[in-house]
Amino acid sequence: MLNLARRLPVSPQQLAEALESLGLDGTQHLIVHSSLKSFGTLEGGAGTLLGELERHTATLVAPAFSYQTLLRGPESPIHAQFARGTRVSRDIGRLSQSLVERPDAHRSLHPALSFVAVGEQAGAVLERQTLANPYAPIGALYDLGGSALLVGVDHSSNTSIHYGEYLAGMPLLTRYLPENGRVTACSFPNCSADFERLAPYVQPLTAHAGRSRLRLYRVRELVDATVRLLRQDPEALLCTYPSCRCQQVRTSVRRDGLRPRAHAADSEVLPPQLRELSTQN
Ligand SMILES: CC(C)(COP(=O)(O)OP(=O)(O)OC[C@H]1O[C@@H](n2cnc3c(N)ncnc32)[C@H](O)[C@@H]1OP(=O)(O)O)[C@@H](O)C(=O)NCCC(=O)NCCS
Ligand SMILES: [Zn+2]
Repeated sequence: MLNLARRLPVSPQQLAEALESLGLDGTQHLIVHSSLKSFGTLEGGAGTLLGELERHTATLVAPAFSYQTLLRGPESPIHAQFARGTRVSRDIGRLSQSLVERPDAHRSLHPALSFVAVGEQAGAVLERQTLANPYAPIGALYDLGGSALLVGVDHSSNTSIHYGEYLAGMPLLTRYLPENGRVTACSFPNCSADFERLAPYVQPLTAHAGRSRLRLYRVRELVDATVRLLRQDPEALLCTYPSCRCQQVRTSVRRDGLRPRAHAADSEVLPPQLRELSTQN
């Protein structure tokens, strides 16, 4: 019986009930990371997920990263500039792409690590982002008492942990991007393959919709737990794949230790025209 129920398409009503059981009542400021396939089939697909999330939050934020803009090095030729409508990378997911396609959504214009948001605090959350502090929108959610929702995905998709790494003082990598026709260096995060190792230190509220498991966290708890864990063991969240950039970070952190960073917004800000735009502008 249970197995049959888990194979049936998930209705918008079932999804709404799952969100409500997590306490989402339309007043929360939320970042979401999702897999549509995790439901089995969701009636109405990304449109349903977006609609129900929006109905149950005050502000809805999602990563809208576009890794295709990254350049191989400082001398690389520039083929394409980032624009408001640049496609979201496939491994960020369909929900984020659907949000980007909404004309009323705000999108921060970091060339590779943009965020997209709708609702009450959308502009305020996104305008914190800088090239040196690409995850600052998570800092804004931290200040707002916001939440992070994982829909059928694990902590390897949980961007809030990257902000914890940033604050704890993990070395960031340098990557190159086109910005206003010039090549610009930017801070780039470590890989997240082993972020599930944070799970024992954070307590989610959990719900199910069809086959999908939904886990809701307070951004503050995620970020604070990451900082605590990394202070204890700076290598705790680095993966062990020999060819991964994590090994470069491991060498650097063993040599230099952590260099904690401040939570406040950095002084190096993107030029105003790059900070945040809605398509109406
Ligand atoms: C990588 C990831 C997006 C893959 O999940 P996914 O479910 O395969 O992909 P999406 O959520 O984009 O949904 C698209 C898929 O849903 C399927 N789909 C379409 N309609 C559907 C429906 N109504 N019901 C269920 N699945 C549906 C599509 O077939 C498509 O699969 P395909 O690409 O094989 O054709 C997901 O695992 C993930 O990691 N998401 C979070 C990403 C993130 O926030 N990262 C932050 C970086 S720090
Ligand atoms: Zn790695």
